[in-house]
Amino acid sequence: MKLLITGGAGFIGSNFIHHILKERRDAQVVNFDCLTYAGNLENLAEVSSDPRYTFVRGDIACVQDVEKCLNQGVEAVINFAAETHVDRSILDSSAFVRTNVQGTQVLLEASRQKKVSTFIQVSTDEVYGSLGERGEFTEESPLAPNSPYAASKAAADLLARAYCKTFNMDVIVTRCSNNYGPYQFPEKLIPLMILNALEDKPLPVYGDGLYTRDWIHVKDHCRALECILTEGHPGRIYNIGSNQERQNLEVVRQILEILRKSPDLIQFVKDRPAHDRRYAIDATVLQRELGWKPQIPFEEGLADTIRWYESNSDWVSHVCTGTYQEYYHRMYETRDETLKNL
Ligand code: NAD
Ligand code: DAU
Repeated sequence: MKLLITGGAGFIGSNFIHHILKERRDAQVVNFDCLTYAGNLENLAEVSSDPRYTFVRGDIACVQDVEKCLNQGVEAVINFAAETHVDRSILDSSAFVRTNVQGTQVLLEASRQKKVSTFIQVSTDEVYGSLGERGEFTEESPLAPNSPYAASKAAADLLARAYCKTFNMDVIVTRCSNNYGPYQFPEKLIPLMILNALEDKPLPVYGDGLYTRDWIHVKDHCRALECILTEGHPGRIYNIGSNQERQNLEVVRQILEILRKSPDLIQFVKDRPAHDRRYAIDATVLQRELGWKPQIPFEEGLADTIRWYESNSDWVSHVCTGTYQEYYHRMYETRDETLKNL
């Protein structure tokens, strides 16, 4: 089974490559990634000499780059490549539209021309917008994205649907909730809070901190994707979630408790504009039809993730220095400036 994994040097893509090479002896993986600030080949150091693994640097929005890769007899494309951070999309949405929308169109079109058997578009629960105190998103929930990131992912989902309907392509869209685990870039809530706590830096909690996310360990997400790759029905959308809703403040307090740090490190800061109050996913279809179930309880996964960041100080220091650090600081300075003017 030859797979083209786009965005394989990022957080979920690299976890998926580790997973699939371990679980499937017949898997051959081409990791196609242009290595933005979020792409890191260190995530794949352990598999880099595996003969079943190849890395190709390329941009999903560039037709020539994509066509070169698809010439190599790929059976399935799994599109993880994206700009993924909501805060960045609020500061400048152009890269989000280019990669997430145009890039998906380029990949779909090239896959159509090369007659790729299966195309999986890795999407997000954020396309559904925000929930009140009750209810869960189902696959039938209307799309109501609130951030430029979510809007770009929703646009890509609609292109995926259109390619399936118009060209009878075997396209599947997956919509997962918030992931956490090893190799996540420390701009997202959990790794940011872990690293700040380890260094006794303030932990910036947006607004009242009572925003809720349904946290799923990245390994459970990877297992769900493997299941969908092998048994998913063409043309379907699958929600992926683990029914482990937690308020942000609760998560941040748990991190501080595990690390035996003071709650005084918590600093309430200005809220994210159009901040989605709550996400919750109904993943019954995936559970009932394909028999997938999440396996990792949040408290256990969080403790393991904290241990991973503590024991991978080289990875952390490479990610937190040089160009990464520059990028990160620039983004937070700009965020503060932009929010002042909103
Ligand atoms: P990430 O930001 O960690 O990694 C994204 C990867 O895509 C990076 O390696 C980057 O270099 C690559 N990339 C970006 N633009 C590219 C381009 N034009 N061409 C080729 N490669 C490019 O992202 P992630 O958190 O691993 O998310 C992966 C996918 O899963 C995304 O599509 C995201 O929308 C989706 N998703 C993420 C979450 C989450 O909680 N992180 C939840 C649900 C869905
Ligand atoms: O739901 C899936 C989505 O989850 C993915 O599609 C996105 O790619 C991914 O980034 C994530 O989006 P969120 O916006 O939910 O994740 P983030 O880690 O940025 O924020 C999680 C919550 O924590 C959110 O309510 C905002 C809050 N937050 C975040 C940061 C970075 C803070 O309070 N302080 C922070 O410093």
